Amino acid sequence: MKISFSSPSLPRTGPLVVGALSGGELLYTAGRVDKATNGALTRAINASRFKGEAGQSLTVMAPSGISATRIVLIGIGEAEQVNELVAQGFGGRAWKAVAGTGAKSATIAIDPIKGAKLKTWEFSANTAYGARLRSYRFDKYLTREKTEGKPSVTTLTVASRESSEAKKAYRPMAKVADGVFMTRDLVSEPANVIYPISLAEQARSLSKLGVKVSILDEKQMAKLNMGALLGVAQGSANKPRLAVMHWNGAPQAKNKRPIAFVGKGVTFDTGGISIKPAGGMEDMKWDMGGAGVVIGLMKALAGRKAKTNAVGVVGLVENMPSSTAQRPGDIVKTMSGQTVEVINTDAEGRLVLADAMWFCQKRYKPHTLIDLATLTGAIIVSLGNENAGMFANDEKICDMLTVAGKAVGETVWRMPLGDGYDRLINSDIADMKNIGGRWAGSITAAQFLKRFIKEDVKWAHLDIAGVTWSNKDTPTVPKGGTAFGVRLLDQLVAKNYEG
Ligand code: BES
Ligand code: MN
Ligand code: ZN
Repeated sequence: MKISFSSPSLPRTGPLVVGALSGGELLYTAGRVDKATNGALTRAINASRFKGEAGQSLTVMAPSGISATRIVLIGIGEAEQVNELVAQGFGGRAWKAVAGTGAKSATIAIDPIKGAKLKTWEFSANTAYGARLRSYRFDKYLTREKTEGKPSVTTLTVASRESSEAKKAYRPMAKVADGVFMTRDLVSEPANVIYPISLAEQARSLSKLGVKVSILDEKQMAKLNMGALLGVAQGSANKPRLAVMHWNGAPQAKNKRPIAFVGKGVTFDTGGISIKPAGGMEDMKWDMGGAGVVIGLMKALAGRKAKTNAVGVVGLVENMPSSTAQRPGDIVKTMSGQTVEVINTDAEGRLVLADAMWFCQKRYKPHTLIDLATLTGAIIVSLGNENAGMFANDEKICDMLTVAGKAVGETVWRMPLGDGYDRLINSDIADMKNIGGRWAGSITAAQFLKRFIKEDVKWAHLDIAGVTWSNKDTPTVPKGGTAFGVRLLDQLVAKNYEG
């Protein structure tokens, strides 16, 4: 689907999307269309419960008096409530309403909204962004899908005043969307397609955007003493990798230390010898969600040429049971020198991250490290699918992530850390064990990670197990892989670590 921007004009054909505010107040183009159709919109509103609330919509088919093939009226809500997310939701809903109409082209009319915080061009750009985000489909394996089931619209025109400003503002958003789409692709692909070596190749593909990529194989990781990561990998015929992506967008920066993003990339998590039950195990193809976000984020940052120095590190393994697999009770030595008693081979993500995070800090000396991982089922018990769990050793990074999350609609909720929790992972015969008891599973997992963060590094851990995959559509995120984290961290960088 191609998005273009034009000055205000009524389309010669295809669906036309127009807006209304709370109370049913028609925006300018909607009013114009209503007049031209001899009040068709007003009659339709009166014949329905449409009140202009955000999320409401109404379609008038084949009205006489205009050449558009249908009018879609979409509610925006209160003018004072209008912000980027409202505009993106409007765009996403507009896309949903027109995509499968059979038309090849569709038009969204954006008009000035009195009392709104957004300028018209900002609303337009965000509408385009929302439509684009919603247009994502993972359909490459649907070989028999009928044309009628596919979107028909190939060109979406956003028509408004200040259209050249809108077009310019949309450019970096489109790059972020590209990153989001890459992440959604990566988490949607099955584990026979995305395994450590092929996922590392996906990371490598960013080099064409100017990202410096290096990939470590198992020999190099053995030399670095990454016993924890390698212990998880040892049961699989698919060899592990560690991929590093370096975006140097601010070479003149005073502070040369980068911000770092580290992702859990378990391309399939059977649980290992502590094997998971069969029901739902297919979900564990997206246990590389953290790595997928880091890769998509680096693509977004490089794509929009972010003026920041960022490094992304992803630990890539497959967790399998086999005669070579790690056993419960095994003791491994991490790159940091600390030893871990592996009580449960299904608590593998923290083992992978321990070495990936240590490597990242040692090699790149980041001032801040943010890790992302589909780490625990327990975070889904705590927070469901609405918030990622956030754990941190620094108040400021929490505040920045919270603000960024609200701005992009990928919200995080802070969880506690503390010595009492930390003690739960002490082991009698090693420096620590890889699980705590039955309770506070997400917190003991985070405490484990914290033992691999150096004193002077600001750190936040995002447990994204509940938000990486969605079973329902939202205005800008179709069900499936959400890429939760790409927009959040792109926003974090844009607002705090650029320029
Ligand atoms: N990848 C899982 C966590 C997970 C569960 C992600 C469900 C998404 C949906 C992780 O490796 C895991 O198995 N965690 C265990 C930890 C336990 C053994 C302490 C869990 O949550 O049950
Ligand atoms: Mn597991
Ligand atoms: Zn896992």
